[in-house]
Amino acid sequence: MTNTSQPTALELFDISDKHLRARASLKWSNVDPDVLPAWVAEMDVHLAPAITEALQSALARHDAGYPGSAEGLITAFSDFARQYWNWSVEPEHVSVHVDAATIASKLMRHYAGADGRVMIMPPVYNRFYDWLSGSGVEPVEVPLTDLSNGGFFDFDGIEAGLKAGTRVILLCNPHNPLGRVFSEQELSQLAELADQYDAVVLSDEIHAPLVHPGVEYAHWLTVSDAARKTGIALHTATKSWNFAGLKCGIAVRSATGPWPHELDPKSTLTDSGFWGILAAEAAFGRSRDWLDTVRDHFAAQSQRLTALLAEHVPGVTFHPPQASFLAWLDFSETALTEEPSTYFLREARVALNPGTAFGAVGASCARLNMGTSAERLERIVTAMGTAWPPR
Ligand SMILES: Cc1ncc(COP(=O)(O)O)c(C=O)c1O
Repeated sequence: MTNTSQPTALELFDISDKHLRARASLKWSNVDPDVLPAWVAEMDVHLAPAITEALQSALARHDAGYPGSAEGLITAFSDFARQYWNWSVEPEHVSVHVDAATIASKLMRHYAGADGRVMIMPPVYNRFYDWLSGSGVEPVEVPLTDLSNGGFFDFDGIEAGLKAGTRVILLCNPHNPLGRVFSEQELSQLAELADQYDAVVLSDEIHAPLVHPGVEYAHWLTVSDAARKTGIALHTATKSWNFAGLKCGIAVRSATGPWPHELDPKSTLTDSGFWGILAAEAAFGRSRDWLDTVRDHFAAQSQRLTALLAEHVPGVTFHPPQASFLAWLDFSETALTEEPSTYFLREARVALNPGTAFGAVGASCARLNMGTSAERLERIVTAMGTAWPPR
């Protein structure tokens, strides 16, 4: 890769199958050698130079102890929020933790109360189910509606859940797996409801840096006074800059928002991953050109995927995402009767995530990871086409 300030997508995603198969992280190491992996949300990308420099410099110092401070990261995140999103975040409203899962689990335990229930809106990020069961809380599922048009809140269902006593909503925006970005108006209506029933909204916004160009995005804490009063936002750089294994999560509240003692920055710093903090500071602070290229690439991948599916897997329903690199494929209108990921793994040697991992509503669906080169995306969908129509 050349060391210009604005890398091209061709350069960033130019990694051979051979090199990717040598990676020990989950996506490529957990499939057979003849399988093309398009499952877990890792990208086939070179890390941003500022991140590798930060890690190499720590390695050169043999510097791998507990984190000494998160101040650099908090400043980098606040600056990024202001400059990139026009969102003003006070550093004292930010706290750093080991990952998003830990933040959400602590908050769910704290706020779910004696009835121990948390509302989720499937299909939704598969690990939410693990987070809930690991926190000892029961899911109250209020599925999104009209999925073929992107997915919308079921406000009647949400109100019924709140009326029945649920006090925590775990929101995913931008949404994984649908790639949906909820409008300010939809979020504001949700905030009014949450406020009316005295509920807390945990807004998982970790895909926000990858909102596609031209799409308006509203952070929960910018939506309204009701949203600020009810919400805590979850952020990470790990997903958008592709270093999930390094671990670092960020919680943000507003001046009036809740902040339980479990998230008190004074007592959680040494729980965090030191190298995750270094990488996240380099990401938010010094890796914006890289991010712009990757974001543009994913918007283009989404268009490519639309055309490739029409050519090779006609009949599948795909609503292009507004953010990130995940695609939700719905086979319910096709002749495929088998669980889609099992079928494509066996017949096409392509690994997808099964739709049921994201909730029972995903039974005839699969999630495809577009976080790769244009050339490999074409190979993935062409391979799926060799098994289409279903045998
Ligand atoms: C919506 C969402 N939240 C949280 C996570 C987990 O992020 P991390 O492992 O970096 O904490 C993911 C990972 O894909 C995700 O998609």
